[in-house]
Amino acid sequence: MKVLVIGSGAREHALCRSLSLDSAVSAVYCAPGNAGIAQVAELRPVDALNAGAVADLAQQLDADLVVVGPEGPLVAGVADAVRARGIDCFGPSGTAARLEGSKAFAKEVMAAAAVPTARSYLCTTPEGADHALDAFGPPYVVKDDGLAAGKGVVVTDDLDAAREHAASCGRVVIEEFLDGPEVSLFVLCDGESVLALQPAQDFKRVGDDDAGPNTGGMGAYTPLPWAPEGLTEELLRTVAQPTVDEMRRRGTPFSGVLYIGLALTSRGPRVIEFNCRFGDPETQVVLASLATPLAGVLHASATGRLAELEPLRWREGAAVTVVVAAENYPGTPRTGDPIEGLAEAAKVPGTYVLHGGTRRGEDDHVLSSGGRVLSVTATGDTLEHARERAYEAVGLITLPGSHHRTDIAAKAIKGEITVTTG
Ligand code: AMP
Ligand code: GLY
Repeated sequence: MKVLVIGSGAREHALCRSLSLDSAVSAVYCAPGNAGIAQVAELRPVDALNAGAVADLAQQLDADLVVVGPEGPLVAGVADAVRARGIDCFGPSGTAARLEGSKAFAKEVMAAAAVPTARSYLCTTPEGADHALDAFGPPYVVKDDGLAAGKGVVVTDDLDAAREHAASCGRVVIEEFLDGPEVSLFVLCDGESVLALQPAQDFKRVGDDDAGPNTGGMGAYTPLPWAPEGLTEELLRTVAQPTVDEMRRRGTPFSGVLYIGLALTSRGPRVIEFNCRFGDPETQVVLASLATPLAGVLHASATGRLAELEPLRWREGAAVTVVVAAENYPGTPRTGDPIEGLAEAAKVPGTYVLHGGTRRGEDDHVLSSGGRVLSVTATGDTLEHARERAYEAVGLITLPGSHHRTDIAAKAIKGEITVTTG
């Protein structure tokens, strides 16, 4: 099978790496890719948001399967364009991708499917926003309705900051604050059936102890030793299957991955957000743990055959990834800095470095080219073991001005995460 992956982040690096290790795959292409992905896939230039250009490329390469990584191309209808050429594609149609593309649409579907989520208001005027902020009280949760690369959400106790963010968004969703540990669950869908991957936890805030602004994600680990038994089955029953059923009922079936972001509150799990693609950096640890070859799983999702798959197999032990971010991320990141120590980091046992934002400079040196530059991923017998390896490798890498969180998976290891059930 020849597979074309669309995107250029560490998530796409993880996807390409797993596909390159799958004996059913004869060629892995990535467009546009980055300096690290070039080690596991053949790169092709493309404007990933141009649906016709992606479909042309898939046809030229004679791809058997196209895997679309980021939400932008999905919302822009890339999967529709590829399928229109008779090529199998992993990822939802542009219409179904609205589950991520519009927070208001996602809320509407959740309400119709009776999926548990935060109570919310859609506001289009400053007066409406003030009313909603007043109704819920602090902490205030203010979300841009449209796509914002994980940075459109402000959670704050400061009423002025909440009002200011609301005013800057136009259409805005204001909702009740959900307390409790967060979980990311990826559910593969084929329009009808659902199949869950292993749950992971992401670290959204830029600084240790969840200080500072939201980011796209600064690290992740899996499995979750503190997760209540039966959590995945419960979420399939109460969230994933009802959502897939509702999308089908509307004539816009959802296939690809439904990424469910949740808080485990004292009143039970509540959906924080839906995304229509794999999460970054959670994918890095989930794929590090998946023992079943990836291509057949993605292909089954793309072709309506999930129900025919054997149960997925998972590796023993744990996986941890730590994101090394550029100076000033999540603001406008500084780019063009040289990265040293990649070869040394990759020698740490069970460890590999996935590239999120890198390119080759003129002298072939690897340079930073984005905000989340690297995702240093390690597996180990235990969470502690994987964490030690990941941080050992991070310590061997230098990137001027870079920063990373030092507490990825730390609370889970210390047993400090608890789920209160009411
Ligand atoms: P989102 O883009 O919707 O995932 O939001 C980004 C992050 O903001 C989430 O991962 C949470 O950490 C936080 N967040 C979003 N909505 C809520 C909420 N209703 N209550 C508490 N935290 C939230
Ligand atoms: N890790 C958060 C996201 O992918 O949206």
